[in-house]
This record gives sequence, C-alpha cells and structure tokens, in this order.
Amino acid sequence: MADGRLPDNFKWGAAVSAYQIEGATDEDGRGESIWDRFSATPGKVANGDNGSVACDSYHRYPEDVRLMRELGLNAFRFSIAWPRILPDGRGRANEAGLDFYDRFVDELLGAGIEPFVTLYHWDLPQVLEDRGGWPVRETVDAYVEYVEAVVGRLGDRVSNWITMCEPWVISWLSYGLGIHAPGRTDAADSLAAAHHVLLGHGRAAEVLRRESPIAKVGTTIDLVAYHPFSSSPEDLAAMTREDGYRNRWFLDPVLEGRYPEDMLEHYADILPRIEPDDLKTIGAPLDFLGLNYYTRSVIRAGADGAPETVPGEDVERTGIGWEVYPDGLYELLVRLDANYELPPLYVTENGAAFPDSRTNGSVPDPDRISYVDRHLRAIARAIDEGVPVHGYFVWSFLDNFEWTHGYSQRFGIVYIDYETLERIPKASYYWYRDRIAGSPASG
Ligand code: FCB
Repeated sequence: MADGRLPDNFKWGAAVSAYQIEGATDEDGRGESIWDRFSATPGKVANGDNGSVACDSYHRYPEDVRLMRELGLNAFRFSIAWPRILPDGRGRANEAGLDFYDRFVDELLGAGIEPFVTLYHWDLPQVLEDRGGWPVRETVDAYVEYVEAVVGRLGDRVSNWITMCEPWVISWLSYGLGIHAPGRTDAADSLAAAHHVLLGHGRAAEVLRRESPIAKVGTTIDLVAYHPFSSSPEDLAAMTREDGYRNRWFLDPVLEGRYPEDMLEHYADILPRIEPDDLKTIGAPLDFLGLNYYTRSVIRAGADGAPETVPGEDVERTGIGWEVYPDGLYELLVRLDANYELPPLYVTENGAAFPDSRTNGSVPDPDRISYVDRHLRAIARAIDEGVPVHGYFVWSFLDNFEWTHGYSQRFGIVYIDYETLERIPKASYYWYRDRIAGSPASG
C-alpha cells in the first residue's frame, strides 16, 4: 500500500458518542448523568453549554444515517447512554431507552452500515456517582447489569462491542485532574476508578460472549505518542514514567493480564484492592483493540525527575491547540505490534477541530482534510509493515458537544448550525466520500 491505499475489506467509519450528539436528556425516562450535573455547575464547561439539545440526533437520526449512507460508510461507532437504559442505576431497565437504540441499529443495518457500539462513553448515571462512582467496586456490578440489558436487546444484530472509551479519561481526567465529570481530584480514587473500569471491561466481555453468539468484544484505549525532550537518562526515565501512567497502565492489563512492574512500584502507596482473579478477567483475549490517537507530547524531567510536558514551539496545531503529528500514529502502531501479541486493531478515533464556518452554503475545511489524509497514510505505512489495522473511524461524524469546550470546538465532517440544527456536509465529508470510494490518496 505504498501509495497510501488501504485494503479492500477496510472498515471506513465515523464516530460519535451519546451525550455529545443526542440531546433529549429529559425524554423517554432517561435519568441524570454525571455530565448533566457537571455541565450545570458554573465554570465547568465553556459558555455554560450542555448536552440537552446537542445535535438533536435523538430525533434526527434518520437524516444522520442518510448522510452516512451517502458518504459510503460501512461502519459507524456510537455509544449507548447508560442513564437511558438504567435510569435508577440498578434494577429496572427502561424499555423506551432500549427502543431508541433498537430503532437506531435497524436504521444503520438498513443502510448497510455495521454498528460498533460503545457501551460507556462517559455518561455515568449520577445516582451511581452519588454512591461513589467508578472508585467503588459496586459500580462494576451496576455496569454489568446495564450491559446485560443492552446485549439482551441488541445482541442478535450487533456484533462489535467496545466496552469502554478511553480508560485514562474515565479515571485520571475525571477523578484525578478534576477536568471532566464528576470533577474529583484524588490520585488514589483515579487508580481505583482505572482498576474498576478495566474490570468492567473484562466482566462485560464475559457477559457479551455468554449472551450473544455473534459478539466480537473490544475496548478503546486513548494513546499518546511520547518523545523525550533530550536523550539524557533523566528525560528518558521521565518519558517512560509518563508512558506508563498514560499508555502502558491500560495496555498491559488488557493485552497481557498484568500491570507494568515499574508503575506498580511507583503507585505502591495508593494502589486499590486488586482481587486475585481480576487481572485474569481483564486480560481475557480480545477480538479487537480500538485505539484513539490525536497527538504527541514531548516529555522532560522536571523537579524530582517528575515528567513534564514541553510545549512545542513552531509546531503545526489544530484549532483546539493539539499538535498535528501523524508519524506518532505510525510509531504507536509499530510499537504495539513489536511489544504485544495483537488482535485486529481499529483506529476508533482520530480527527481535528478547526474554527469552520459556512460560506455560501459550503464549509471549506482543507486543514481537516490534510489531517485525516496524513493519518490515513500513517496507517497505510503501518499496514505495509504488517500491523493488523482493520479500520478507521474519523472523529467526528457531526460537530458536537466537545465536553469542557462545549460547542466551541468543531470536530465534525458534517457542520451543525446550532441555531437551526441543520446538517451541512463540509468539504472533508466529500473528500472522505471519494477516499472511501477508492480514489488513490491525494498528493
Ligand atoms: C476523545 C473523546 C471524544 C472527543 C475527542 C475529541 O478523547 O473520546 O469524545 O472528545 O476526544
């Protein structure tokens, strides 16, 4: 694939998540999620935005699926809102919530698009957070009940399941750094959350395989490409630590059923309770692994050798400020292949925010086209070297609620006019359509 072409059976996808696009947060018996509560807390989300309307995809999904079909997608990744399914956290399943996803899945299948269902993309029922959230082990039991309800309804038609989206975000960004909902700031809680998220993945895999003969189970890990600031032993050690905290802490248990030794030592005083069989459950073989890649980070040793990010100067950045570094995706893919026994891989998210605007009914976004094009080429190079990448999901299909940034960051290949909720395909949509249709990589 030296010309940047991707294999014939490649999955060409796009991705979204429930809270970011659905809206209808008070409809059909949906319960409150931690993101409803967090975005209602002054100062947490830019402009005081929230997901109560978002793209209104809860009502407008037939139009969304029509646009997907015209784009030529053969795969679509979306998430299920847990608070629509178990509004009280435990017990009673809400049939109206299940009905919605039932209709949506049928709409996708009718358009010839394979659903990739993410079971958790950050909208924990608030009632479970009130009982301790991910740092408590009982949340795993609640998650398993929720997964049972979902697979019981959709398991006859959905085969691809992503148990969790980005365990680092669910744990550290949300319970340690306080940036995402629920906004807590305790390192031990983060590690406990991380362990329970991983365990939730493992237990969900058991349930999915037990309940659905067609289930293929994967999970999605967010990876950062790290480079050392210099080749000094201090900077290299700092980079190894950062990589352990952010990448290996999640990759090793899922792919090898163990936590990395160096990090176990580093966290010795704040480790959660780990039961004897937990890592066996977490490390059960995967049918695929999803990885999300956006950017790289340069690390040096700061005070006491602690890792410190060095902001790049004169580097190319997207509108949200993240460095554009397609080689990082290639490096990560090759490294994963060298270090682990890999199942099929999907790049389950990759994309860029830019301050797009409409001019005479069209939305030119050459920077996004260039970003996606270069990352697809990085994937093609890795495939050439034998890395088993089976598909790509651009983030995102629609402009949407970008968490703490609210609606200020547009990641979509389809523009949303938030006043009218009109969908306007951007130039990148048409470019992606041609790319999918088999045109050689441009340039
Ligand atoms: C990822 C999230 C996704 C979106 C993109 C930009 O970390 O999974 O919901 O916010 O970043």
